[in-house]
Amino acid sequence: MPFVHSFPHMTAQEAAELIPDGAFVAFSGFTPAGAAKAVPRALSARARDLHAQGKPFRMRVITGASTGEDLDEALAQAEAISWRTPYQSSKTLRDQINTQRTQFVDMHLSSVPQTLAWGFFGKLDFAVVEATELTPDGRVYLTTSIGASPTFLQCAEKVIIEINRYHSQRLREMHDIITLAPPPHRGPVPLREPLEKVGWPYVGVDPRKIVAVVRHEEPDDVAPFDPVNASSRAIAERVVEFLLKEMAAKRIPKEFLPFQSGVGNVANAVLYGLGANPEIPPFTMYTEVYQDACVELMIEGRLVGASSTALTITPDKLQQIYEDMDFFIPRIVLRPQEITNHPGVIRRMGLITMNTALEVDIYGHANSTHVMGTKMMNGIGGSGDFTRNAYLSIYMTPSVQKNGKISSIVPMVTHVDHNEHSLQVVVTEQGLADLRGLGAMERARCIIDNCAHPAYRDYLHRYIETSPLGHERHDLSKCFELHRNLMETGQMLPDHDPKLFKEKKEPVGARS
Ligand code: COA
Repeated sequence: MPFVHSFPHMTAQEAAELIPDGAFVAFSGFTPAGAAKAVPRALSARARDLHAQGKPFRMRVITGASTGEDLDEALAQAEAISWRTPYQSSKTLRDQINTQRTQFVDMHLSSVPQTLAWGFFGKLDFAVVEATELTPDGRVYLTTSIGASPTFLQCAEKVIIEINRYHSQRLREMHDIITLAPPPHRGPVPLREPLEKVGWPYVGVDPRKIVAVVRHEEPDDVAPFDPVNASSRAIAERVVEFLLKEMAAKRIPKEFLPFQSGVGNVANAVLYGLGANPEIPPFTMYTEVYQDACVELMIEGRLVGASSTALTITPDKLQQIYEDMDFFIPRIVLRPQEITNHPGVIRRMGLITMNTALEVDIYGHANSTHVMGTKMMNGIGGSGDFTRNAYLSIYMTPSVQKNGKISSIVPMVTHVDHNEHSLQVVVTEQGLADLRGLGAMERARCIIDNCAHPAYRDYLHRYIETSPLGHERHDLSKCFELHRNLMETGQMLPDHDPKLFKEKKEPVGARS
């Protein structure tokens, strides 16, 4: 007879009252998918009330990755976050991080569960986790993301479960949950292909830790992507062309290799581009985010299987999945982020990884996080986990930003997230630089000639030719001249000509 416990059912407001000022709180969510909603919303209201009474209320917050508006954005607007890890994409929170009002720990997503479990961040007071069901013996069935919730449930002293009736009970048939034993007793993760399952459809939690169960019914607030623009379309075409050449040269096997695709509009456009080209064989993904493009590609039979930690899809598309679970369940596996982003598994499967950078330098270092080296955008997310361990690592960025006033190809990046030892291919709408096997100066010329916007090529060539000789030529008095110009005059080149950068408008909804 299993241990049976009866749980305290509460409103979100009552549950929020349980969390004191200064608590360290984990919330479920990897992107808005599966993010806790009702309790963080109630916590924002509580923080505002307390602040109005002159009382303090701020929490240390950990999640799987970014979250929905009800979590990061609402809590940040209520000035309720003192410390945050590992990734965010909220406008208000970003501003608080960049003005030192919130401390932010930017870390590889694969390391989050281990770092927490080993106590590097201190004791976790609460986990607030969204589920489709909680059984009396403590089985928690998660919703549209797994993220780091298994570890949050294991580590937290107290647990609050949000039962969200909006989601299909059958999501559990996609779930494959394992947690890793601590070193030195950790074995290999026994996965050889994306759809293999080796774990459980639920997370077990000690029922005595559950201090509140809150019920509600609402969708994940996943925003739709922008229509594909000319620049994303050109990047997608170059990636597809390159992969076809690699297949012809037999550097990609005929059965192809699984893809990882980063977040954002460019990544979504590239997925559509891969799907639209019949010469690319039907493919699989081993990635951290299953996004809108994947639904159509699966229905069309182009994407035959996907392993992810989150179903980050707009409510319409999610309904499409819920209405045809018999079709989607055998094709999608959702795992903890520690497994989707596991370096050993990524290396074993031989992933083709595609991520986006803010800027890339002429030697192949990429900055994905800090605008002008100082302002945090979102965080490194999973990009480092995938890039470092890829079979083929591709970095994509438009060659220019802000009507050409900013070049994304620069002499030296102002912050390094991914370095020259890990980047193999750089792509902009201008062209593709295949850096494999090239020496430092060959890499520089290859990136300038293929990826930089033509308006910046002379400057960049002059930069390397006039810099002191070395393995990598740099002039330390000039390596940030473009950035300095931007700060002082609002444009990187003094003779900026906007006519050179007019982008053609694409019809709304255009697909590659
Ligand atoms: N200097 C100054 N501003 C820049 C810039 C640069 N070099 N590059 C981009 N920007 C600005 C853009 O102009 C845009 O500004 P706006 O919001 O005012 O329009 C903004 O930054 C976002 O640029 P955009 O090109 O639209 O970015 P994106 O949506 O394609 O996202 C990253 C790019 C790098 C921010 C995003 O991919 C990211 O957060 N990556 C790190 C995490 C990651 O890769 N996760 C995936 C792993 S699975």
